[in-house]
Amino acid sequence: MVIGIQWDESFSLGFEPLDEQHKQIFGVTEEIDQMLQASAPRDAVIEQFVRLRGLLSEHFAYENTLAAGLDGVQYPFNAHRACHEKVLRDVEGVIALSIGVEI
Ligand SMILES: [Fe+2]
Repeated sequence: MVIGIQWDESFSLGFEPLDEQHKQIFGVTEEIDQMLQASAPRDAVIEQFVRLRGLLSEHFAYENTLAAGLDGVQYPFNAHRACHEKVLRDVEGVIALSIGVEI
């Protein structure tokens, strides 16, 4: 395994919308991992990174929406939001390096 970790039920939050999004994110990460191990064509790998970026972007926006609706969550969530932004920048950095264009 090059990148990732696989989903297992210990990651479940017991909140179906978030769990499903997390499973999708883990799934794409696993696909990328397998593609890299199999030396898949570069364009196909980049396509999966772009897909991952889209899933992450939607997921983080959804989590931000949820946190905004919960009293007292904003303070601790701000640090988590910073992690979200770093992960997105990292994925965008991989894509930018791969295609030579800033995203
Ligand atoms: Fe999440």
